[in-house]
Amino acid sequence: MSETKTPQDTCVLVTGGCGFIGSHTVVVLLQRGYKVVVVDNLSNASPVVLERIIQIVGQEAAEQLTFCEADVRDAEVLEKVFSQHDIDAVIHFAGYKAVGESVQKPIEYFSNNIGNTLALVDVMRRHDCKSIVFSSSATVYGDPDALPLTEESPKKPATNPYGWTKWMIEEILHSLVVPDPDWNVVLLRYFNPIGAHPSGLIGEDPKGIPNNLVPYVAQVAVGRRDAVHVFGDDYDTPDGTGVRDYIHVMDLAEGHAAALAWMAGRTGCEVFNLGTGRGSSVLEVIQAYAAACGRELPYVIEPRRAGDVTANYADCTKARELLGWVARYGIAEMCRDSWNWQSHNPNGYDG
Ligand code: NAD
Ligand code: UD1
Repeated sequence: MSETKTPQDTCVLVTGGCGFIGSHTVVVLLQRGYKVVVVDNLSNASPVVLERIIQIVGQEAAEQLTFCEADVRDAEVLEKVFSQHDIDAVIHFAGYKAVGESVQKPIEYFSNNIGNTLALVDVMRRHDCKSIVFSSSATVYGDPDALPLTEESPKKPATNPYGWTKWMIEEILHSLVVPDPDWNVVLLRYFNPIGAHPSGLIGEDPKGIPNNLVPYVAQVAVGRRDAVHVFGDDYDTPDGTGVRDYIHVMDLAEGHAAALAWMAGRTGCEVFNLGTGRGSSVLEVIQAYAAACGRELPYVIEPRRAGDVTANYADCTKARELLGWVARYGIAEMCRDSWNWQSHNPNGYDG
């Protein structure tokens, strides 16, 4: 990706652009003037997302958006996408992400997450497009020896197939730059993305029972579920519940735009943590959400969930210094925007 190109001259392929983080990132990219091609097979997204994106950015910016409903593993389609569009860089969100499901369906997870990445980079090199931003996860740090986590903190063996896919894709992408120094790889390790676009038009819409804390709390707040199940109150933390670094999805989306701008004209492989640097406990999140929705939220204490760590939060100095990026929102704004989305879309994109 050339240094001299403006966003208006830059075309970004966003795989998984209809999903939770992808849709918010597409909004930010279109608003900055980028041309965006989304490839998504809608395996975990609704086509309504595209209408909502257009509603947010307006018709003019939306003219720069192309959608292709396809599986990233479909090399023929991908080949066509790269032939029809002069793609400068790729942001690769597409993949399966449910930890528990990955234990039950390891073949599907390895095949989709790793298979689609290999299919993608193969087509990319054929078209001499060698800039890629990948959605990694703080899960690669496992149970930390020390906090906060820096990019130098050791990667620990994963405890589930989902975690292994992130771990291995990082290694795969890292190894591309060894034989071919033209590759330009950015691995973004997200901490816990929550919240929604402030318009309330797009947000997280999990299928079935939410696995993650905030989508579950949101469904309790909107009356779809009775009470939050708090997984353990005997951790070595101030209130005994698990501590995580929650990050507003809009901050995360801005982090991708910052990474793209930084990458222009560079090569190599860099890793960045994207978090806020602050940890919040499960009970603090429930309280913040209760304040956002204006009522007490019932919860019950349950045993610890297998595989959970006590606490993690990021040191984001590297992203601040190199990308010029810092997270702007705190937990109150994250809960406010999540509630705005959930209360206006109690059943997600289904109405
Ligand atoms: P999501 O499920 O909402 O989005 C993923 C999108 O990819 C979906 O729209 C799905 O339809 C699409 N997709 C999946 N497989 C595909 C394929 N083979 N071809 C085309 N499209 C495909 O998930 P998300 O929360 O937006 O996460 C995006 C990425 O970030 C994922 O790689 C995820 O593992 C990673 N990540 C997410 C979190 C999180 O808490 N949400 C944390 C760390 C990392
Ligand atoms: C989980 C995944 C991680 C993945 C991330 C984003 C596990 C072990 N880790 O992170 O790999 O990258 O999601 O998808 O699944 N909690 C409750 N009640 C709930 C749900 C969660 O008390 O109903 C607690 C958990 O014990 C934890 C905190 O809330 O302390 C956050 O949990 P969650 O939102 O699932 O995220 P992580 O476990 O951090």
